[in-house]
Amino acid sequence: MNAQMPAASAQAPLAFADWTGQVQGGMEDVLDRFLAPTSVVPARLHEAMRYTAMEGGKRVRPLLVYAAGDIFATPRVLLDRAAAAVEMIHVYSLVHDDMPCMDDDALRRGKPTVHVQYDEATALLVGDALQAQAFETLSAPLEAELGQHDPGLSARQLRMVNLLAQAAGSVGMCGGQAIDLASVGMTLSLAELEQMHRLKTGALLRAAVLLGALGGKALTADESAALDEYARAIGLAFQVVDDILDATADSATLGKTAGKDAADNKPTYVSILGLAESQALAEKLRGNAHAALLRFGEKARRLRELADLIVQRKT
Ligand code: IPE
Ligand code: IPE
Ligand code: MG
Ligand code: MG
Ligand code: MG
Repeated sequence: MNAQMPAASAQAPLAFADWTGQVQGGMEDVLDRFLAPTSVVPARLHEAMRYTAMEGGKRVRPLLVYAAGDIFATPRVLLDRAAAAVEMIHVYSLVHDDMPCMDDDALRRGKPTVHVQYDEATALLVGDALQAQAFETLSAPLEAELGQHDPGLSARQLRMVNLLAQAAGSVGMCGGQAIDLASVGMTLSLAELEQMHRLKTGALLRAAVLLGALGGKALTADESAALDEYARAIGLAFQVVDDILDATADSATLGKTAGKDAADNKPTYVSILGLAESQALAEKLRGNAHAALLRFGEKARRLRELADLIVQRKT
């Protein structure tokens, strides 16, 4: 054996399912740390925020943050905050997406939606407060927690805040949601449908990948372009698969109402391309994502596995 090569058992990476389980479990502690306890006034609002954010969801965006962060040696204290921030924005988007003025859904993550369990005003405020909490969490002074002087830390955090704000706003998630709502009953061109999906879902997934990377050592222009290509491919693939699952899976498996897109007359990849072509597109995007990662070699193993998960998932 090569003397430089560590024993295989000491180096063997966790199986993918064990790693995702570890991150998902860890997110409970991370979110618990950054969300106000229910003992703080107003207790009902804090309870509703925890009701929707804790113990639920696949945590795909945090998984992407940690996977990208590992490649670029982003400090763990910053990764935890980026993972929490992007998940808070995502959860807020789900709470508002389910409200009667949007998709009017009663089931989310296997439980009654926030406006059903609490009331509409609370659902609105849960979303607002989660969004604010996301930016508070990401922008907090961190040097004491890091335990060492890092002269570039605040500048990196500022870039991360800026990136997340763009991804969440009117040229990102909110913009995509506006297009979604304006498109009910319409037949969109493929280009219009792609733009809607890239904004409403792709933008935040892309941000998750880039947030993980931005917190660490500087990327070369080529690395940055490759990572962006990966992030865009999985971002679009995620919503293509969401459309497929809405049409093919059942509510118990999804933890949300299946068949809702067709019932609401929403343009989706399934309604425009059909099921087989949508599946082929998701596969093509998975291939694009893998190809974009080639330059990173073994270090990008988790990102590759996450592209597979995003396309092959059943929930
Ligand atoms: C659902 O997202 C809504 C979309 C953006 C398509 P997820 O499928 O990631 O939902 P959770 O977080 O696992 O509940
Ligand atoms: C939601 O898209 C995207 C956001 C919440 C930003 P969908 O409306 O398709 O999500 P689901 O299917 O309700 O989870
Ligand atoms: Mg929607
Ligand atoms: Mg919806
Ligand atoms: Mg959907």
